[in-house]
Amino acid sequence: MNYDKTEVTWKSPSNIALIKYWGKKENQIPLNPSISFTLNKCHTTTTIKFEDSVKFSYDFYFENKRKPEFIPKLDSFFSRIIEFLPSLNNLSLTINSKNSFPHSSGIASSASAFSSIALCLTEIESFYSDLVCKKNFNQKASFISRLGSGSASRSIFGEISCWGKTELYKNSSDHYAIPVINSNSDFPRFCDSILIVDRGTKKVSSTLGHKLMDNHIFKKERISQSHVNFSKLKDSIDTNDIDSFIEIVEKEALTLHALMMTSSPNFILFKPNTIQIIDSIVEYRKKTGVKVCFTLDAGANVHLLYPKNSFEKVQSFIQKSLIQFCNSGMYINDEIGLGPQKI
Ligand code: DP6
Repeated sequence: MNYDKTEVTWKSPSNIALIKYWGKKENQIPLNPSISFTLNKCHTTTTIKFEDSVKFSYDFYFENKRKPEFIPKLDSFFSRIIEFLPSLNNLSLTINSKNSFPHSSGIASSASAFSSIALCLTEIESFYSDLVCKKNFNQKASFISRLGSGSASRSIFGEISCWGKTELYKNSSDHYAIPVINSNSDFPRFCDSILIVDRGTKKVSSTLGHKLMDNHIFKKERISQSHVNFSKLKDSIDTNDIDSFIEIVEKEALTLHALMMTSSPNFILFKPNTIQIIDSIVEYRKKTGVKVCFTLDAGANVHLLYPKNSFEKVQSFIQKSLIQFCNSGMYINDEIGLGPQKI
């Protein structure tokens, strides 16, 4: 063991999926591959203090307060990961997490939360055993993140990240994400302005939403469509074809919500203002030719994606036409980031 250490801290970002993960099998195995932009400013910082103990135990604090509502998800996370991080059997942990984004923004990022916890746990394991080394650290952290929240597996890597087996990337896996680096591509750096329509907590958890894919009437079609969209999106990034990128990203966002609306029970997560924003974005793009597009999470907020060189123009567009549809005029300017950081 590295006896000098008694605590570790990692900062890990959220991510926004371009091809959506929706539906899973046992043990957090996705129904389809997904791909995402890793964000920069929206992140969670987690510190874990650890000490020897006769058996595993943990205490969890969010911004220095106990949060009983997070305990069921954390309990099931620890029960899934303990066999892969055996040093936990003899440790007692005190976990403290905090988010960079405001409490009431409606952004509940399990991706940044679980990836930051997983990075800390993976580092702690490396002090005690050879199961984790420099070479496999990120892959292991992504594997552990996935067992907390599927989308968290993608936050371990910067820029563009892919999770789920696809023949398009030989080293892709259902068990962990991989970084997708496009050294040949001129594909621009993207910004993501998150337009906050609803500041409340989610009406339907992602976990329940995924479950509704089990018997969904369009399950088979969705799985094949996601592979087709994945391949088109990869081509558009590789060939720097922004128009095709926009078409696929928007189609994926609308498909995600269409799947929710056609599940049993069905649910509608966007709000009238979500649609107002979407309409305004499409109209603005047609009128000005500026390459902006929208994507959505499992909620009402809209992610406005655009190349960095259009930042000024898009900021005036937000002020003039979109801010009126945001809850208390709230939005967060983020951009593609380089991935987690050890503090
Ligand atoms: C719509 O990763 O939050 O954001 O694995 O149950 O924790 P769990 O689900 P989660 O689902 C994210 C769904 C999504 C699409 C995506 O991020 O790919």
